[in-house]
Parts: sequence; C-alpha cells; structure tokens
Amino acid sequence: MAPSVSSSDIRLAHLLLLLSLLVAIPTATTAEPLAQICNSTGGRTNYAANSTFESNLKTLLFSLPANGSASGYCNGTAGDAPDDRVYGLVLCRGDVSAGDCRSCLDTGAQEIPQICPGSRSAVVWYDYCMLRYSDRRFFSVPDDVLKIPLSNTHNLTEVTQFSQQLNLLMARLVRYAAYNRSARMFATGDADYADPATTKIYGLVQCSMDQSADDCSTCLRGIIGEIPNYAFGKKGARYLKATCNIRYELYSFYKGSAMVSVSLSRNATPAAPLSPPMNIPAAQGKKKSNSTSTTVLAISILLGAALALVFVMCVYFFCRRSKQGQVCVRDTQEITTIESLLFSLSTLRAATDNFSDVNLLGRGGFGTVYKGFLPTGQEIAVKRLVAGSGQGVEELKNEVVLLAKLQHKNVVRLLGACLEGEEKLLVYEYVPNSSLDKFLFDPAASHQLNWARRYEIIVGVARGLQYLHEDSQVKVVHRDLKASNILLDADLNSKISDFGLARLFPVDQTHASTTRAVGTYGYMPPEYAMRGRFSSKTDVYSFGVLVLEMVLGKRSRAFSDSTSSTDILTCVWDHWTNGTVQDIVDPSLGGQYPGDEVRRCIHIGLLCVQEAPEDRPTMTSVVLMLSSYSVSQRSEL
Ligand SMILES: *[C@@H]1O[C@H](CO)[C@@H](O)[C@H](O)[C@H]1NC(C)=O
Ligand SMILES: *[C@@H]1O[C@H](CO)[C@@H](O)[C@H](O)[C@H]1NC(C)=O
Ligand SMILES: *[C@@H]1O[C@H](CO)[C@@H](O)[C@H](O)[C@H]1NC(C)=O
Ligand SMILES: *[C@@H]1O[C@H](CO)[C@@H](O)[C@H](O)[C@H]1NC(C)=O
Ligand SMILES: *[C@@H]1O[C@H](CO)[C@@H](O)[C@H](O)[C@H]1NC(C)=O
Ligand SMILES: *[C@@H]1O[C@H](CO)[C@@H](O)[C@H](O)[C@H]1NC(C)=O
Repeated sequence: MAPSVSSSDIRLAHLLLLLSLLVAIPTATTAEPLAQICNSTGGRTNYAANSTFESNLKTLLFSLPANGSASGYCNGTAGDAPDDRVYGLVLCRGDVSAGDCRSCLDTGAQEIPQICPGSRSAVVWYDYCMLRYSDRRFFSVPDDVLKIPLSNTHNLTEVTQFSQQLNLLMARLVRYAAYNRSARMFATGDADYADPATTKIYGLVQCSMDQSADDCSTCLRGIIGEIPNYAFGKKGARYLKATCNIRYELYSFYKGSAMVSVSLSRNATPAAPLSPPMNIPAAQGKKKSNSTSTTVLAISILLGAALALVFVMCVYFFCRRSKQGQVCVRDTQEITTIESLLFSLSTLRAATDNFSDVNLLGRGGFGTVYKGFLPTGQEIAVKRLVAGSGQGVEELKNEVVLLAKLQHKNVVRLLGACLEGEEKLLVYEYVPNSSLDKFLFDPAASHQLNWARRYEIIVGVARGLQYLHEDSQVKVVHRDLKASNILLDADLNSKISDFGLARLFPVDQTHASTTRAVGTYGYMPPEYAMRGRFSSKTDVYSFGVLVLEMVLGKRSRAFSDSTSSTDILTCVWDHWTNGTVQDIVDPSLGGQYPGDEVRRCIHIGLLCVQEAPEDRPTMTSVVLMLSSYSVSQRSEL
C-alpha cells in the first residue's frame, strides 16, 4: 500500500492540514555508529546465546547508561565468576547535555549486541558517546590496539599555515584536557586561520576518564602525531581510540564556547599563493612599505567589492528569471540535491497512466495516492496533494530535501517531489502490503498477525519513531500516528508513513494552540486534544494506544460508543491492576502468546498513555524496554 490513510480520515486530514506544525531542531545526533571494533579477545570463542556472560553483559549495558549520563562517564563490572565477568565503560563527549548523552548511550547499549554479536569485547563510537566492554579488566590501562583514524575527504587549498595553527591548537588542548582537573579530560578550542572561506579551525580532544593525566597526554600526543600520516592536506579529521580521541574541522561542531583560543601567530609563514590578497596583511609578520601595501590593499578591496557586486547582480538577475519556471538555486551543491529529487509532471503522468483510477491506491491524508512505475522499472507511490498550500515553492523544496534525507527501515522513504504550477506531488517508495489497520481490525485477516509478528511490528514502529524524534537530522513529530499510517511490506515489516506532511504545509503557530481537536480521536493525548500542545510525547501517547490496540485487536475509537479514548485505557488499566489482562488479549491470537511479552507490552502501553507528558517515556526508553527484560520505573524514564 501507498502512504495513505483510510478514506474516512480525509476530513480529519484536512483539519490536520490546517493545524499542522512541526518542531524542527537541527541536530548532529545520528543513529549510525562512527566506527566499531568487535573482537573475541584471547582466542576464546564467542559468548553463547543465553549464557551467563550474555546476561551479565545485558545487565551492564542496562545500568551504565543510567549511571553515566549525568556525569558523562561510568565504568562498572557485572558477574562474579571470572570467566563470565564483564567490564564496561561509557563516555559521552564533554559538551553534550545529560539528555543527549543518555539517548546516545541508550542507542549504543541497545545496538551493541547487534553490531558485535557474540563478541567478548567491543568498542563502539558514536558522534556523542562511546561504549566499551570486555571480558578483561581494562580500566586505567593504556591501549594502543583499539584505534580508528577517519579523515575528511575535502582538500585544503593551503596547508602550511593550517598545519602550524592546528599544531598550536592541539598542544593547548592536550594540556588543558590532561592537566586541568576541572575540565574532566575534555577540551574544545579554536584557532584563527586566514583561509578565504574560513576564519577558524575548531578542535576537540577527550580522554576516557579512567586514564591518568600522563596517560591521557601521551595518548593524545600520539594520535596528534599521526595526523600528517593519514589526514595531510585534509580539511578535517577524527582519530578514535578507546582511551582518547580528537577531532578538528573548519566549522564549529561542538556546543558551547571554546575553552582555548589560539590567535594567528606573529611569525606565521605567509599564506600560500592560493589565498586571496586580503589575507596577506593579517598573515604577514612584517610590513615592508606602509604606503605600497596600503595601496595594494585598497585596490584589491575595491576590485573585490566590484566583483562581488557584479556577482550579486548576476545571481539576482538569474534568480528572477528562473523564478517563473523553476526554482532559484544558489550553489552547485544545492542544485545537485534538489535536482536529483525533482520529478517532472510528465514523468509522473506517464508513470501513473495519467493518474488513472486503475492505479488508485487510496484516498486520505492530504490527497489521493496512485501506484506508478518509473521508466527504470522502479515501483513508486505518488501522492497527489489537494493542498492549496500557502507556502512558496522554494520553501516546499527545502522541506522536501530535508524529508528525503530521512532514511530508516521503519520509515517510508520520500523519493522526491514534483511542484509544477498548481500540481504538488510527492513520490514515495512503494510499500506492497496494506496498512496495519487492514490486518489488525479485519477478522478475516487478523489471524495473519500472530503474536511474534505483532511484537516485531511494535518494535519496528518504536524504532522508526525513535529515529524521527531523536536520530534524524531534522527532528520530526508525527502528530497523527495510528494503525492506518503504519504500512506493512511484503514481509510484514512495519514502515511509518505520512510523517512530515505537517512540515510541508505549516500554518502559523497561533493555530497550533487553539482548542480545536486535531489528530485522530482515540490516539490523541489530553494536552493535544484540549490545548493543542504537542511534542514528541504526543507521538509517545499515540504509540501507547497503538500498542494496546495490537494486544487487544480492537480499535480504540470503536472500543465503546463514546468518542473518548479513556475507555480503552480505563479498561486495560482495570484489568492490569486486577491481574486479569489475559481476559482482554485479542481472542484471534488463540491463546498462542508468551504471557510475559504481552504483559510487558501492556505495561509499556500504559506508561506511554500517562496523562502528564513528562511522565511518558521517550521513544529511546521504549525501544530499550522492548528489547530488555525489565521495565523500570516511570519516573526514571
Ligand atoms: C583480538 O583478539 C586477539 C586474540 O584473539 C588479540 O591478539 C587482538 O589484540 C585483539 N584485537 C583487538 C582489537 O582487541
Ligand atoms: C534462549 O532463550 C530463549 C527464550 O528463553 C529461547 O527461545 C532460545 O531458544 C534460547 N536459545 C538458546 C541457544 O538456548
Ligand atoms: C549504578 O547505580 C546503582 C545505584 O546507585 C548501583 O547500585 C549500581 O551498582 C551502579 N552500577 C554501575 C555499573 O555503576
Ligand atoms: C572504575 O575504574 C576505576 C579506575 O580504574 C577503578 O578503580 C574502579 O574499580 C572501576 N570500577 C569498577 C566498578 O570496576
Ligand atoms: C584531494 O586530492 C587528492 C589528490 O591530490 C584527489 O585524489 C582527491 O580527489 C581530492 N579530493 C577532493 C574532494 O577534491
Ligand atoms: C580549568 O577548567 C575550568 C573549567 O573548564 C576553567 O574555568 C578554568 O579557567 C581552567 N583553568 C585553567 C588554568 O585553564
């Protein structure tokens, strides 16, 4: 099925369209690890499934993030018998908040067993944190084996001054991180650098806090000494070691202000000829003749200004001309991204047989959806929007570019768009099966969803939401999560659809806080239904309702004759407190399900639908709870 909702939702969808607004906070967090090293140390074999080692590892991976996120560091051990004991350590980048630290560590703790299956020792590095465990004690021990150099692929135009300034910066950073006790083995800083496009080099160094000050300094100086060998002439690099790491770039990548600043050194070598004249006076130590250099400077400034003016006029002229037909794009980088996402109307007409009813997949959620084939043979779903959006084509394209960057196996992929004249079309990957509601609430089809499948779907949706909330470049709150927005592919894997439409058609904020009901009845948390307040916790609530629907096999809004969502919740809550949940589990499961898993899902569902948004867990915690065997207390989440 295409990313559509059932036709009965079309009116709601229009309402939603009016009131849509999304929270967008660009962030550097990514779900993907930067690098990892997995190993079975000492020639021993991998740990076995269900072994004591595995359970010790799980215990440790559960407690380290919780204990370490406040201070950014924690080490610990689990297990008594020497053969099964696990040593672990987590470390967050010194500039990230406790919340970002926690979510990075939670992701890592959850992923490490999949990234390094069976490994008796492993290190995984993320942008914001690092996790390490081993069957051997490694605390306070310097290490020279676990290391990964990474370099930026972009070349510098000038190397001499760059290297000089970088070395000065790194030396200062090492001293600060290793020997200033209140810095907690972490330092950030910048150094002036007179490159045409940049004014500073930004650097960061950090040591694992179990290392001594001297070992920290040795470790850092070691990897800084390696820079010329693997990143010579590059605009940036990282070097990841288990015991210390460094990073530098020509743009600011750390949070907060620099702890160390290095100004341009007086006797620095003049910039190489590639740099424009403007930089030379700053870089030169001594001025030869004041009058000549002033003249040269004045001439070059005038020349530069004239050139800039001509350039601006060209750009302006070009933009105005191109506005009538296509969008104005400002640089080549942008051209390649936007152009690769644009489909022409004629291509999409051909792909869908001129939007013929034969190819109609569904109506709802902002428009009609058609199946189509591109000339390459690729199957697509084309959503033809009915929206008379007030947003300019330019802004729409920017949003499309952002949404197209979202890539996760539990999120429907946006392939591109066509925005010609009045037509606004979105092109999605085609998802062959139908939406979850078509299975779950249809007595003839619900038997296909046995408990194992339902559980997989729940986990998939949780991961997809976690990605949208926390890990993608743009933070996306879905705001209308429900069974009809979950698509199932040929293998019944779940994919979240219809996210981000609110981004494409935003309305001003005043609308978002009116008292009008938006979203879908039965899935809306009270603060959203009544006051129009939304946050990622809005989706967490909807997710909770969805989980309870999966267990009960009933629509929340069809649950009783009332339109209120409290009935399904009250019912589940009553059975939960009476210990009679088995009475409400979907009869079409035929009693074939593990009681503990079902209870865990109900428990998680109930945690998610708590009245106060701040009591609801984050999706990261939900994912962790779904993959671990202990549901901990709500206040902690
Ligand atoms: C991996 O284990 C082998 C022994 O099995 C050891 O020699 C090697 O140093 C380990 N490598 C890492 C990266 O830990
Ligand atoms: C591990 O335990 C699970 C559940 O208790 C079981 O399904 C699985 O077969 C066990 N695996 C092995 C290798 O013993
Ligand atoms: C985490 O904190 C709890 C309570 O303070 C403590 O019992 C536990 O040992 C700690 N775990 C680790 C790995 O430090
Ligand atoms: C954590 O590391 C420190 C420093 O090496 C060590 O003294 C301590 O015993 C470790 N903690 C645990 C629980 O192993
Ligand atoms: C950088 O320079 C190297 C060799 O000098 C070249 O192979 C590479 O393509 C350049 N990289 C970029 C991004 O221009
Ligand atoms: C040590 O670090 C603290 C905190 O980052 C900073 O306020 C202080 O100025 C530093 N001291 C020195 C001597 O750099």
